[in-house]
Amino acid sequence: MSPSLQGYFQVAQAIWEGLPPVTRFGAQDEHTLRTYLPQLQRWEDPVINGFYDALFSHPATRSVFREGERAMREQVLRIWYRRTITGPFNLEYFAWQILVGQVHHNRGISKGQVMAMWGWLTEQIWQLSHISLPLDEADQLTMAWMRLANSVKAMAADERLEAYLQALEQQSGGNLRILQSAVVSWLEELGKSSSHS
Ligand code: HEM
Repeated sequence: MSPSLQGYFQVAQAIWEGLPPVTRFGAQDEHTLRTYLPQLQRWEDPVINGFYDALFSHPATRSVFREGERAMREQVLRIWYRRTITGPFNLEYFAWQILVGQVHHNRGISKGQVMAMWGWLTEQIWQLSHISLPLDEADQLTMAWMRLANSVKAMAADERLEAYLQALEQQSGGNLRILQSAVVSWLEELGKSSSHS
């Protein structure tokens, strides 16, 4: 069962508060993205095209897409990119990223694949900014982007685990705390037996 909109907001807020503030995307980073908005806008085409070239050139990611789907996917990623570079970076934005994570999950796309593409996006921003800006400004823009990427990735990672555990609790009729401690004991046993072998 999917949570309500309010539910997504609450999950996003709870995960956000758990992240060390120095690692989170902050007001200074938002200011940096605003400063370099014209550059980020200019990079839209290479970013969108390169993103799907990467996914379509590899059989394991190509196979996720339906026939003739690429144009629509590009259009949606364009909307995502425009919203991402302009902000505002409020709870609504981060809750949306959690929802995007669920859409991927429902389509059978692994978190590893999504994380890898976040890495690819970050490399592009690094490369494009170092080609077009003085070194210190390029570094500043890349760091702001990295903190955004880290915040979104951390959020998606935490939310999925929480959703799995809650689904497990609901489906098994068990108690979450008991299930969690059973998993911890099982992992400890596994660790002991693999260290003996
Ligand atoms: C940085 C990583 C990624 C970002 C930012 C991103 C962004 C998005 C967004 C915004 C949507 C629309 C979600 C919605 O309908 O509300 C979407 C859907 C989708 N993405 Fe991604 N994506 C990423 C990685 C990937 C990867 C690695 C794949 C394939 C291996 C992929 C394939 C798809 C597909 C097939 C859909 C359509 C899902 C559906 O509606 O059934 N994406 N993505």
